[in-house]
Amino acid sequence: MLVTGGAGYIGSHVVREAMAAGHSVWAVDDLSTGVENRLDSAVERIDLNLAAADAEARLTDILRKTKFDAVIHLAARKQVGESVEKPEEYYRDNIGGLANLLLAMRATDHDTLVFSSSAATYGMPDVDSVSESDVPTPINPYGETKLIGEWMIRNAKNWGLRGVCLRYFNVAGTGATGLADTAALNLIPIAIGQLRRGETPKVFGDDYPTPDGSCIRDYVHVSDLAVAHIMAIDYLQQEEREFDVFNVGTGTGASVFEVLSALREASGIDFEPEVAPRRAGDPPKLVANVSRIQQVLGFKAEKNLVDIIDSAWNL
Ligand code: WQD
Repeated sequence: MLVTGGAGYIGSHVVREAMAAGHSVWAVDDLSTGVENRLDSAVERIDLNLAAADAEARLTDILRKTKFDAVIHLAARKQVGESVEKPEEYYRDNIGGLANLLLAMRATDHDTLVFSSSAATYGMPDVDSVSESDVPTPINPYGETKLIGEWMIRNAKNWGLRGVCLRYFNVAGTGATGLADTAALNLIPIAIGQLRRGETPKVFGDDYPTPDGSCIRDYVHVSDLAVAHIMAIDYLQQEEREFDVFNVGTGTGASVFEVLSALREASGIDFEPEVAPRRAGDPPKLVANVSRIQQVLGFKAEKNLVDIIDSAWNL
């Protein structure tokens, strides 16, 4: 199996889950954000930027020399705010990188792909929980690149590609020591970093139309997310599978205040969050309807918010 972005926070959990399931794994990662020592020594790392000018040729050469039973594509830029400031870099890296991968897969008869998509494809849906049938209306270039990626994979069905797109909700937690999310770009790692520095976590707005006024999200443990990728590969490797899209979440929402309260418990630090102004572009609520992934793949997240917070604080 080939995992692009395999040295990343999510990628390294996917690689470990794949190996535990008996797959031999290669990782494509240029370490621009990945961390090499997240990778088991048994994993061969291919140092390649998928959006580079020579990426299509290099990838085609690699895929011609080694026939992989599946490809999991995680390598991409994923900062919403940065995508608003530098949209062309996101289109180049996320869409261009996927285009190079698809060209190389087509040229070498690789037909099985699992793609890292995102809840950001939904934008700001005004529903209690979001289903795959809800029309995706991304509100930032990052979310647009994920939706366009899904279209590219769906169109590749014409030459025989079988693809599953996984729309990640809010991924957090740590599956093993050394695999923590060190980028600190999302609520839980940001708040943990603040506490460790003796600072106070902030709540971006407490005047949303939610029970406690703070935004509600669907936090899913990165270990559960990794399992969903392996189940998607198993699904694709059965007969007559084509293109599909699944939400990956728990189906349960948690507010910012609830997350920080769980962090107060896990850390033993009795802090009061500071209320800060709203952050632009935040939907009040974004919770997955997870009935389809359960019905079709048989996937159901096993870990809850306390498991997520405890693992993020302690590992
Ligand atoms: C969660 C909530 C913030 C920091 C993003 C991407 C999405 C996916 C997950 C990749 C929001 C609030 C945050 C803080 C806060 N990534 N917050 N204080 O924006 O839901 O989703 O990450 O696929 O695509 O868009 O995640 O962790 O940034 O924010 O109050 O210090 O926490 O306002 O309501 P988000 P987040």
